[in-house]
Amino acid sequence: MAVDIAIDLGTSRTRIFLQKQGKVIDEPSVITVDVTTDRIVALGEEAYNMLGRTSDRYNALYPISGGVIADLGLVEVMISTFLKKVVSSKIGMPRAVACVPGEITDVEKRAVVNAISCAGIRRVCLIEEPVAAAIGAGLDISSPHGSFVVDIGAGTTDMAVISLGGIAVSRSIKQAGNMMDDEIIKYVKKKYNMLIGKRTAEEAKINIGCVIPGMASGSYRIKGRNMITGMPMWIDLRSEEMVEPLKDTAIAIVRQIQDVLEETPPELIGDIHSDGIVLTGGASQIVGMDTLIKVATDLRVTIADDPADCVVKGCGAAIKYIDKLKHPDGSINPITDRF
Ligand SMILES: Nc1ncnc2c1ncn2[C@@H]1O[C@H](COP(=O)(O)OP(=O)(O)OP(=O)(O)O)[C@@H](O)[C@H]1O
Ligand SMILES: [Mg+2]
Repeated sequence: MAVDIAIDLGTSRTRIFLQKQGKVIDEPSVITVDVTTDRIVALGEEAYNMLGRTSDRYNALYPISGGVIADLGLVEVMISTFLKKVVSSKIGMPRAVACVPGEITDVEKRAVVNAISCAGIRRVCLIEEPVAAAIGAGLDISSPHGSFVVDIGAGTTDMAVISLGGIAVSRSIKQAGNMMDDEIIKYVKKKYNMLIGKRTAEEAKINIGCVIPGMASGSYRIKGRNMITGMPMWIDLRSEEMVEPLKDTAIAIVRQIQDVLEETPPELIGDIHSDGIVLTGGASQIVGMDTLIKVATDLRVTIADDPADCVVKGCGAAIKYIDKLKHPDGSINPITDRF
């Protein structure tokens, strides 16, 4: 028996989709390594739960950084381990569709293909992340109608105007969820003299993050270390103060969206004017992000259903295009087999 698969190698999470079954893996892209032996001790969810809680002997590594592979060997192990969890050894996996951020080099694309091939997959096709996001969000990318998709992930924000299955204008920037976490760490350090870990910062962002003053209320208790006394401490971080650490990243994303709109050909901009912008990616859910973009562009802004899953769903839906690569019939094909 054979099954085609789709893989979204995200900076924060790896998602795997099996044909006919849908999403079967959604785990953090983290690996814990024993530095004394170089042995992998935990991977995925288990490694994430160990983040910041281990001795110096263990090092937590994110083998995907800014949407590209930073450590090929570790990504190979990660993909193989995840696949073994969900696919029995009797099932063949002849083909895979994987996504890559818009602006990466051929060498970086080759690394993605190699990492997936190592799990025994013979043919790997690539699709650009915003195109996958658009398909996953339910947009008809094959029509000559322009659609604008912005995927706000952890390592990158990828945005593109798509028409006829191809990208008319695109941008990929590093301002995304991870940068917001780093800014929260800096803010708490400066304002409260308190040291917190990345995981705590991310939890605060998800629970009370907001980019427009007054749009969210409530507070979230964070625990860390007092930098003066060295003792443990906690504070109740308020939603309204989250605007300060999150605003620079949010504004950078809005500026890029405005730049892309300025470069979009007039016919397509007309389509975008009537359809608006679709947001995907986990960090598109931060309170006020959609409103900020709406106010800055004067366009309708919609957050897709299950925004973090759009890319892997789109890769899964693109599996059907693989055959069209083999038998080119002039139809629109958003995936590439050049690597
Ligand atoms: N409800 C939420 N509110 C705010 N942020 C969220 C929420 N859920 C997830 N995030 C953030 O979204 C980011 C992860 O999004 P996603 O899974 O789309 O990224 P990724 O695909 O792993 O990364 P990339 O596409 O950049 O390689 C993280 O920064 C996470 O903290
Ligand atoms: Mg992503």
